[in-house]
Amino acid sequence: MLYDEIFLFLRKMKSLPSSAYSTYYEMYMRYFVAGINKLTGIILTMTVTKNISLTDQEQKSWTVINQETNDKFLTLLANELGDIIADDNGNKIQHLRPKLTGQGIKDTFSYKYGLDEFPYHTDTAFWAKPAKLILMTTELPSSCNTLLIDIKGFLNSLTESELVVFQNSVFTLKTPSQIKFVSVLQREKEDFIFRYDPNIMTPFNSNAKKCDDIIKEYIEDSKAIEIQWTGKNILVLNNWRMVHKRSECKNEPKRILKRIYIN
Ligand SMILES: [Fe+2]
Repeated sequence: MLYDEIFLFLRKMKSLPSSAYSTYYEMYMRYFVAGINKLTGIILTMTVTKNISLTDQEQKSWTVINQETNDKFLTLLANELGDIIADDNGNKIQHLRPKLTGQGIKDTFSYKYGLDEFPYHTDTAFWAKPAKLILMTTELPSSCNTLLIDIKGFLNSLTESELVVFQNSVFTLKTPSQIKFVSVLQREKEDFIFRYDPNIMTPFNSNAKKCDDIIKEYIEDSKAIEIQWTGKNILVLNNWRMVHKRSECKNEPKRILKRIYIN
């Protein structure tokens, strides 16, 4: 029903004079966001008991919107989903271009892996609270895919003893500007943040080593969700519930991935 209504709005918008566009645009956005909220688990709540038992109320942690887009649409959509987190230069939309190994900011994935495939990770794992949602899109079709693995099922499948290991794990997180200790599971009010970035996180104690092995095994055994960029699609994912990576990007020097962080 929801999508029928969206479709009708879309048709209506196309036949409208541009002066009426913005009114319908806003209504259209509301329907879109209602659909996304239902799908991505943005409303997802996790109840946490003393022993970190996790109970999810939503199923899906990501969604793809097949929609021709522009920066205005992306910003509107992101604003409806939460608060946009601008980068250090004040840009709300970040433009990511493939870089050769050793180029760009030290210790980033591009710097270390260049055009090769990246490892699975949480974005902004070095922040005190990583961004909750990531919105991504490309302007042009790209054969360099984004791969996702849902961690929610994994968290729910952990045994009691594994949860204790996760709870007591300590990782060293190192970037050019900071060194600190973090855990892969962080309490956030009544929610939980899963944080994992093997590029900057190293197991510090034996529990973290076990935890790292369990995560790596899970990622290795999981079937990834493959997002193919058509130039007309937008991915929204819950960064607290999913890890993602970019596939090899050897023949696309002009590829630009647009990204927005949202809390
Ligand atoms: Fe990423």
